[in-house]
Amino acid sequence: MKHLSLFFIFLVILLATSFSDAFTRNNFPKDFLFGAATSAYQWEGAVDEDGRTPSVWDTFSHSYNRGNGDITSDGYHKYKEDVKLMAEMGLESFRFSISWSRLIPNGRGLVNPKGLLFYKNLIKELKTHGIKPHVTLYHYDLPQCLEDEYGGWINRKIIEDFTAFADVCFREFGEDVKLWTTINEATIFAIGSYDQGISPPGHCSPNKFINCTTGNSSTEPYLAGHNILLAHASASKLYKLKYKSKQRGSLGLSIFAFGLSPYTNSKDDEIATQRAKAFFYGWMLKPLVFGDYPDEMKKTLGSRLPVFSKEESEQVKGSSDFIGIIHYITFYVTNQPSRSIFPSMSEGFIKDMGVYMISAGNSSFDVWEATPWGLEGILEYIKQSYNNPPIYILENGKPMERVSTLQDTQRIEFIQAYIGAVLNAIKNGSDTRGYFVWSMIDLYELLTGYTTSFGMYYVNFSDPGRKRTPKLSASWYTGFLNGTIDVSSQDTIQLQSNFSGSSSL
Ligand code: BGC
Repeated sequence: MKHLSLFFIFLVILLATSFSDAFTRNNFPKDFLFGAATSAYQWEGAVDEDGRTPSVWDTFSHSYNRGNGDITSDGYHKYKEDVKLMAEMGLESFRFSISWSRLIPNGRGLVNPKGLLFYKNLIKELKTHGIKPHVTLYHYDLPQCLEDEYGGWINRKIIEDFTAFADVCFREFGEDVKLWTTINEATIFAIGSYDQGISPPGHCSPNKFINCTTGNSSTEPYLAGHNILLAHASASKLYKLKYKSKQRGSLGLSIFAFGLSPYTNSKDDEIATQRAKAFFYGWMLKPLVFGDYPDEMKKTLGSRLPVFSKEESEQVKGSSDFIGIIHYITFYVTNQPSRSIFPSMSEGFIKDMGVYMISAGNSSFDVWEATPWGLEGILEYIKQSYNNPPIYILENGKPMERVSTLQDTQRIEFIQAYIGAVLNAIKNGSDTRGYFVWSMIDLYELLTGYTTSFGMYYVNFSDPGRKRTPKLSASWYTGFLNGTIDVSSQDTIQLQSNFSGSSSL
């Protein structure tokens, strides 16, 4: 009998231990926000309706053979249906962006009443369903007329125009919008759009791989990056002066962050990783927190890196109430400056950084394998190096072949592993305040058009009605958000060790 009760106590302890790592939505702070995201050009469609004019993304996608956002998921017409789906899912926040050329078709000046009405209606619909809007002002879609007039983000004129656009948004929507991201994934926007030529407006130096019509990969990414920081800071100053005390919102800049970890424990790889972190994170975070670029960048780039005046430095410093992190994949970093992950490019950001990067996924072919320790590493690094700022994970998710299946179990495993990583980071003191799945529903993808998708809802793009069907991930997120799904971080740990334990050179 005594043995039996000892056995019983042992069993209870065993169960308690094995479930002590399990977590639910309720393990996160009450005011932590779980959401999902889209962006205007990728979700809305209706590109030439009700006064909208083309953006650089329209032009870019029409010059390539990978589809376009002309109709895409038709969010412009189906927003009520989508907000209903979000509400049924228990989504706490919806991140979307405002199409500048829908709101202000000439880039500056007159506001388009129909564009204004669309965003007012969308925000009202979200409010009615108790879903908090997180609004991104710029997501790759500069009005084409501004690109034509002065070259867009590589010209300082963008600062004034962006601030005026932001002013309209704060004035018109600020009563109901408490979270603003000025510019989406500023770092990779500057690299992809002005160095690699793979995202709009598609600038790069002449190279064997991509045929850009214009560009200079050794200077433009840094120039664009500089103007992005100044435009963000200018919008932030305006918000603080004119709106913040009344509207009580927060405003931040978002950066794209790869997880980065040394490939070996050699001193060289450690230093190479520090350099990669300075380039990928410090490029924007150091000015935002300390008012200047990292020394590693200044040293390597010399006069190619623009310089902040004293006044600009003071304006940029402290201009983000939070940092938005867009995170998908992790790389091991090794000190082989002469090797490039983009062998076609003889100059540009990757060359300047001078490191070689190897996928940290289990197989070197799938950079999309979950490596949640990569995100934990980013959050820990930011906490330690940048005074632990408030953070929102504004995008995270897994692409899968579009037509494959609605049973997107791998996506669920991916998302739950990363949510686990966020919880670990919070326990370790990171001030992370929200997590958004990319994407709420299938849409026009930035790099792959309609061949892969990240959505929790399947959209039938051959159907004129663009029928939505939930994938398994939609049910999983619903269960997680209403607290009925318990995520065991045993699984997360298992995943983490499987993927982090193996290297792939
Ligand atoms: C971008 C999205 C894009 C997603 C998946 C992010 O970097 O913000 O627009 O669709 O990645 O590639």
